Amino acid sequence: MAKPKTKRIGILTAGGDSPGLNAAIRGVGKTALGFYGMEIIGFRDGFRGLVEDRRLKLDKTTLAGILTVGGTILGTSRDKPHRMLIDGRTRDMTDVIVKNYRKHKLDCLVCLGGGGTQKSALRLHQAGLNVITLPKTIDNDVAMTDSTFGFATALDIATEAIDRLHSTAHSHHRIIIAEIMGHRAGWLTLGAGIAGGADVILIPEIPYRVEKIAEAIRRRSRVGTNFSIVAVAEGAMSVEDARVFAAAEAKRERARTVQDKKEAKAELATLESRHTGNTLRLARQLEELTHLESRVTILGYVQRGGTPSPADRLLASRLGGACADLIHQGIFGVMVAARGDRTEPVPLEKVAGKRRGVPAEHSWIATARHVGTCLGD
Ligand code: F6P
Repeated sequence: MAKPKTKRIGILTAGGDSPGLNAAIRGVGKTALGFYGMEIIGFRDGFRGLVEDRRLKLDKTTLAGILTVGGTILGTSRDKPHRMLIDGRTRDMTDVIVKNYRKHKLDCLVCLGGGGTQKSALRLHQAGLNVITLPKTIDNDVAMTDSTFGFATALDIATEAIDRLHSTAHSHHRIIIAEIMGHRAGWLTLGAGIAGGADVILIPEIPYRVEKIAEAIRRRSRVGTNFSIVAVAEGAMSVEDARVFAAAEAKRERARTVQDKKEAKAELATLESRHTGNTLRLARQLEELTHLESRVTILGYVQRGGTPSPADRLLASRLGGACADLIHQGIFGVMVAARGDRTEPVPLEKVAGKRRGVPAEHSWIATARHVGTCLGD
């Protein structure tokens, strides 16, 4: 009887890095190599590495000692297969990716990434490649999975930051606003805000009224507590701004011609760039309305860097191992989702283009309200 062909897997990490990527690479790699006897090639810097055929050999040696290491040994980029900047021009590089996939005789391409990566992976699957994805992002906003790796570590970091801001805010009788990552989803801000006992939590899913926030802070002052911690997501916005954004987004969705789409996209980009600095504006507004000194701390990339937490190592290892199981079974075109203690393959069509925001009825929202946190509404 002929010996079964050794399966060859390609793997890449795309989008913003997040803690747990190396644990996931190791989980896929060790299971594929050691458990199933497959071969695995790493492509550098996301989809760009696959286009430019830049590789990293993944074997026992390269996979050793990476479980606890932050970032990604493969490197990453936000490049998309169908819209990649090549020699100053935006080009669709799908054909080149398909060619390189065939050249290396791959049986499957594993893509580790967030929402954008899920969409790119679906396109490649539709172009005829066997693709599997894992959900990664500190934002925790990938659809159809309980959670994404990177989130737990970022939650620890953001919570510790809020803990530390308390004593200085208290000592100086100040409002301290901690800006937490998350342009479109408030999981990280809400989670860290609750765990760190923030007095105000502002997330993109709940547009705020500055006057409501100021009133909550003044109420605290009236009973002698003249400091407050405000946890604000990057993408949180006032009711007025949210209306303008919603109108621009609706326009983009309605746009049919290339020109209309271009214009609607440009309008949204302008609005987004204007939103930068919103936290500083909020601090000034609160200072005026409450007469308390205000300070801003932008947590930024600290939230994404460094060693993954045990929870993220565990999740990434579980998803990685399950991914190799699916390749062995010949199941493709899916994302490996976390579902309670188990993992589950979910068709990419159900994931791509669907962001998971914090639902209004989520228990964390109720929890925040129960303990008297102002959500700005
Ligand atoms: O990857 C998710 C994320 O960390 C968001 O929370 C943040 O808004 C964004 O990436 C920052 O992107 P970049 O790394 O491109 O600056």
